[in-house]
Amino acid sequence: MSKKHTSLISELRGKLKTCDSSHELSNIKSYYLGKNGILADEFIKLKSVKLSEKKELGMSLNILKNEMQDLISQKLNLLSSENDKDIKATDVTLPGKNISLGSRHPIAITINDIMDILGSYGFTSVEGLEIEDEFHNFEALNISDNHPARDMHDTFYVSDNKLLRTHTSSVQIRSMMVAEPPLKIMTPGKVYRCDSDPTHSPMFHQIEGLHIDENINFGHLKGTLIHFIKEFFGKEMQIRFRPSYFPFTEPSAEIDIKFKGKWLEVLGCGMVHPNVLSNVNIDNKKYTGFAFGLGVERLTMLRHSITDLRMFYDNDISFLSQFKDLK
Ligand code: PHE
Repeated sequence: MSKKHTSLISELRGKLKTCDSSHELSNIKSYYLGKNGILADEFIKLKSVKLSEKKELGMSLNILKNEMQDLISQKLNLLSSENDKDIKATDVTLPGKNISLGSRHPIAITINDIMDILGSYGFTSVEGLEIEDEFHNFEALNISDNHPARDMHDTFYVSDNKLLRTHTSSVQIRSMMVAEPPLKIMTPGKVYRCDSDPTHSPMFHQIEGLHIDENINFGHLKGTLIHFIKEFFGKEMQIRFRPSYFPFTEPSAEIDIKFKGKWLEVLGCGMVHPNVLSNVNIDNKKYTGFAFGLGVERLTMLRHSITDLRMFYDNDISFLSQFKDLK
């Protein structure tokens, strides 16, 4: 390569060394390799040299051209890889991603609370089947064939003898059939009734309790439930036991709570009917027991002053997230 060309290369090297932006590099590139750039000037000179020198100068020019192109494209690669690094680098001043935690569903919170309280009284949890037969859901519970609760309007039948359970009392029947008293169980779960309005949903949750042993009486029932209500609401509530009727308990009662000046029914209860005990082969001369059934949605509505039960199933995040700070 000629002396002139060698010095052009070292001049270019010098400029590339201090160049630190792609904008500057593109200026350098057009200065040397552009249409009217240094290299083009050198090529023009080729026309006016003597024939004997042409070959040598031509070779030198080709080397010069290749060298310049190589140097510039190497620099271009270097700058763009540095750029990539910049982009990948973490900017610690940016705000972090907002990862918000979900919350438990209010119904799940209530179920846990109820089970915690009843668990502390010695009730153990048992779950059963959601598709039941007439025997476990009705017959064994002393609900005769022509009882209104058997009407198609209340019960979702799956087939002639199969239905969606209308209460978790069916789980109590299954438990009493396999276990000897004493028995102290609670049965949380979904139940189904053909009903839908602001205070009824075709599917809702129940927790029923059952305690069978020798010498169990209504006093045990009252004591358990009065205590439970106080613990559940976290304060003394105004309550009353109102005589009621269930085919599977005798005597039967319902508990009402005074809420915003009105008596509201919150649970059904009673002493297990002797027929129910004999239906499951428990000696009804030796054993007695009490049972109660709690509506989970009803208790949750009372606790949080919710007026429409259907809100529990709308999946509205702004409603559900209000229960975030609860357990
Ligand atoms: N099984 C009744 C219901 O679902 C509730 C209940 C249970 C009432 C136990 C009394 C005793 O309506």
